[in-house]
Order: sequence, then structure tokens, then C-alpha cells
Amino acid sequence: MHWRNTSSVYGLTSILLHWLSALVVFGMFGLGWWMVGLDYYSSWYRTAPDLHKGIGLLLLAVTLLRLLWRLVNPRPATLPEHGPLTRLAAHAGHWLLYLLLFGVLISGYLISTADGRGIDVFGLFQVQALISGLPRQGDIAGQVHEILAWSLVILAVLHALAALKHHFIDRDATLRRMFGRP
Ligand code: HEM
Repeated sequence: MHWRNTSSVYGLTSILLHWLSALVVFGMFGLGWWMVGLDYYSSWYRTAPDLHKGIGLLLLAVTLLRLLWRLVNPRPATLPEHGPLTRLAAHAGHWLLYLLLFGVLISGYLISTADGRGIDVFGLFQVQALISGLPRQGDIAGQVHEILAWSLVILAVLHALAALKHHFIDRDATLRRMFGRP
């Protein structure tokens, strides 16, 4: 398998980036849900949000890299058995997934930086608060973050169901290609 995409299959880099971000998105949704219900006296009360913020910023970097990689690689051609409606739905769905990913990550950043403090990423580096002190920034960003996170996870589940339908019902190569099989 090659690192780069070809005109018929995804390369190892795109595949690893796809499955890594799928894992992180579902994991972060679970972590976020669990974290907001934590009691002040729990030993995770501070650690869980630090973990959530650190992973979120790393996912933002990975997503930017992923888009850059997409830009400099050929895109595997659409399968001939996919009609125009399937192509349109897949294309729109993929861009909406990217859009929601950025929306969730940026709104999360705006919650954390509302009070002007930067975000420490696992003690490795600090990300400055570029935007802070907007009226009700924390509250509004928090609400937007929750709505977008739900939308992202629901769309990702629909996207996964569509991939499974292609694999088990239509028996085409859509899902196989995301594992590097032609
Ligand atoms: C949070 C979870 C997920 C996100 C955010 C996500 C996002 C994406 C995006 C943005 C693409 C387009 C890649 C590109 O060409 O730039 C894509 C492709 C794909 N995804 Fe996912 N995905 C997720 C989970 C899954 C899961 C769980 C499955 C399978 C069960 C899956 C199967 C696929 C397949 C087969 C493709 C290739 C479609 C094609 O070639 O037209 N994805 N995904």
C-alpha cells in the first residue's frame, strides 16, 4: 500500500487520518458527555476537561493536515455504480462532516479561551487565547459546541450506516477502499 492516494484507492495516510479522526470524534463525544456530569470532588473534575481540550486542539491540527493532504493528493474516482444522486449526497455529506468538525473544534476553543487564558496541551505547548472577552462568549460558545457536537455525531452515524449499506447491500468497493483494498 502507498502513502499517497491513487486515482482508484485511498493511500495509507488518508486512511490512517480518517480512522484516527473517527475514533477521536466518537471518543471525545463520550468523554465530553461523561465529563459534564462529574462531581466537583471527583479526581477527574480537572483532569477530564484538560484531556478534552488537549485532544481537541490536536484533532484541529490533524484535521488541518488532513485537508492539506487532500489538496495535494489525487482523489480516488467515484465508483461507476454510483449514480449522480449518490455522488452528490456523498460529496455534500463529506464537506458537512469537515464543516461540523471545524465548528465543534473552534467553538470548543472559544469556550476555553473566554476568560483570556490559553490552553495547555499536555504540558507540550500552550495555545494562546486569540479571541476572549466577547459578551457571553463562554455561554454562547458552549451552546453552539453542544449543538454542533450532536450534529456531527448524528451525521457521522448516518455516514457510517451509508458505508455499511454500500458494503453489505450494494456490495461495492466504497468501504473496502477506506481500508486500502481496491
Ligand atoms: C466521526 C466519524 C467520522 C468522520 C468525521 C468521517 C469523515 C469522513 C470524511 C470527511 C470523508 C471524506 C474523505 C475525503 O475524501 O476527504 C470520509 C470518507 C469515508 N468514510 Fe468516514 N468518517 C467517520 C466515520 C466513518 C465510519 C465509522 C465509517 C464506516 C463504518 C466511515 C466510512 C467512510 C468511507 C467508506 C469513506 C469513503 C467514501 C468514498 O470514497 O466516497 N467513516 N469520512
